Amino acid sequence: MPLIRESIVITSNREGRVHIAPIGLIAEDGDWIIAPFRPSTTLDNLVSVPFATANHTDDVRVFAGCLTGQHTWPTIASEKLPVPRLENALSHAELAVVSVKDDPQRPRLRCRVVRFVSHMPFQGFNRAQAAVLEAAILVSRLHLLPREKIERDLAYLHTAVEKTAGPREIEAWTWLANKVAAHFASPTPSQVAGGSTMRGERRPE
Ligand SMILES: Cc1cc2nc3c(=O)[nH]c(=O)nc-3n(C[C@H](O)[C@H](O)[C@H](O)COP(=O)(O)O)c2cc1C
Repeated sequence: MPLIRESIVITSNREGRVHIAPIGLIAEDGDWIIAPFRPSTTLDNLVSVPFATANHTDDVRVFAGCLTGQHTWPTIASEKLPVPRLENALSHAELAVVSVKDDPQRPRLRCRVVRFVSHMPFQGFNRAQAAVLEAAILVSRLHLLPREKIERDLAYLHTAVEKTAGPREIEAWTWLANKVAAHFASPTPSQVAGGSTMRGERRPE
């Protein structure tokens, strides 16, 4: 399995409308692969404006926020690209798309790093941050996974939040927990018909 670096990917369309999404960048021979599930605004933007910034942050509210409808995080211009970077990123890479491997479900866009800048020091691991990232992944798969797995995994992850979180992690966890609660409070037609689907075709949300 390749290394995957969970990043905040920022793209923009031709009109300059900025889009922010958590994406796992896949390491491949010195490049990074962005692999968005269709349909995807990130994909549409990269096809028309083939540049992105990959932002590395320990503020897990950005990951949780994007998964819970809060997409407006402060950005500032990057140096070499027509797309901005996250203002509070610890570091960011400026990426240029060098090739596209098309796929009906999940195209792979190979990106080359044209610039990498460090802005702030990484201050060490925090278990609650990792737990929020895992919970954000679960939230992105709410329609794919059985309710029992989601609840079991969240209960396990919550221990790390209870024991080690700061205010940012608690806020991020609360957003995600509220989204999960709202999801199960209003079951989808497939749940009503007898349980969540495990089919692989649906994209995470
Ligand atoms: C840590 C993390 C990693 C993710 N990685 C991917 C990914 O590699 N590809 C993808 O399509 N969605 C990924 N997602 C889900 C997207 O963030 C989410 O579906 C988003 O809306 C992407 O669609 P968009 O480009 O239309 O915004 C990830 C979510 C999280 C929390």
